Amino acid sequence: MLHSLSLSALLISTQVLASPYSRPNSDPLPLLIWHGLGDNYAADGLAEVASLAEEVNPGTYTYIIRLDEDVSSDRTATFLGNVTEQIASVCAAIHADPILSSAPGVNALGFSQGGQFLRGLVERCGGENGIKVRNLVTFGSQHNGIAKYQLCKPTDWLCKGYIGLLKANTWGAWVQGHLVPAQYFKATDEETGEPTEEYLLNSNFMADINNERALKNVTYAQNLAQLDNFVMYVFENDTTVVPKETGWFAYTNLTSGDVVELRDREIYKEDWIGLKKLDKKGGLHFKTTKGEHMTLGEKVLKDVFSEWFVPPTESWKKVVEDVVQEIIEL
Ligand SMILES: *[C@@H]1O[C@H](CO)[C@@H](O)[C@H](O)[C@H]1NC(C)=O
Ligand SMILES: *[C@@H]1O[C@H](CO)[C@@H](O)[C@H](O)[C@H]1NC(C)=O
Ligand SMILES: *[C@@H]1O[C@H](CO)[C@@H](O)[C@H](O)[C@H]1NC(C)=O
Ligand SMILES: *[C@@H]1O[C@H](CO)[C@@H](O)[C@H](O)[C@H]1NC(C)=O
Repeated sequence: MLHSLSLSALLISTQVLASPYSRPNSDPLPLLIWHGLGDNYAADGLAEVASLAEEVNPGTYTYIIRLDEDVSSDRTATFLGNVTEQIASVCAAIHADPILSSAPGVNALGFSQGGQFLRGLVERCGGENGIKVRNLVTFGSQHNGIAKYQLCKPTDWLCKGYIGLLKANTWGAWVQGHLVPAQYFKATDEETGEPTEEYLLNSNFMADINNERALKNVTYAQNLAQLDNFVMYVFENDTTVVPKETGWFAYTNLTSGDVVELRDREIYKEDWIGLKKLDKKGGLHFKTTKGEHMTLGEKVLKDVFSEWFVPPTESWKKVVEDVVQEIIEL
């Protein structure tokens, strides 16, 4: 019994390996990286991440997402811009890239706000003829929005001016259309735990991408549920992102500190964005890593690359090896 089962598995796997359409065994899927606030696509840190990806999965084509080829403008776009338009421009850039658009799928790694923007990309730009993200990994992202804006250093007047503008007019159309963090700010009534009317009415990005309004976009849920894996890392001692549990789509009562986990929330129970479906097939993963916001060590990145971004054919190679081993043992 075991023998015949193994043999058919061997046949299937050799067929897959011999298929003229399959890529070379060693070819990993391309990797998209979306950086965080204040960073730029040409930063040394990102190049290091890309070279780690190459080290773990040789041959990885890494595309570091940019909103402008000019480095300084790319950085500015992390603060200034309409996130809806930014995601649409990234979608177009990926479609225009011959490698990214012809690959059978891509993996995606999002740092901080880049994580929820990549998720937005999957929801809006995925699907049948869209970008096929297989595994999405986010670090310290703000999937349930932020309840507070970041603190500025005491002498950083530019930051203070910017945050002042954000705070003073978060729900104004100009701010929602131009200042990036306002578009994932989420105001909640601490008494009821429900989002405020102002947020539901005016949020340019978060309320839409989380399908929090009465009218749900079913495409978002379908597209997100099509991921193989969605891996969400929260930094254990993150004090930059308030509350840090937003990285897992959790709701935190800031007065009491009580946390309502995603699985106990409506967004999951009614499956507004496909997370429940993804969870039921084993594709939703809640992870913790040590340290403050974005203290990323080499080890955690290497673990991510070897656990989630290994080439799919590798697993077939392993199946074949295991089967051959079994047959030898019989
Ligand atoms: C839902 O989202 C898709 C993808 O962004 C979009 O094409 C479609 O127009 C949206 N549908 C509604 C009803 O907003
Ligand atoms: C953001 O851009 C989209 C697409 O151009 C537009 O429909 C929307 O009104 C803009 N949002 C704001 C708040 O300006
Ligand atoms: C949040 O905590 C405060 C203080 O414990 C409590 O009064 C309030 O009802 C809580 N809100 C929710 C939605 O549980
Ligand atoms: C980091 O967070 C963990 C768990 O929340 C806590 O036990 C630990 O004391 C924190 N460490 C620091 C340095 O704050």
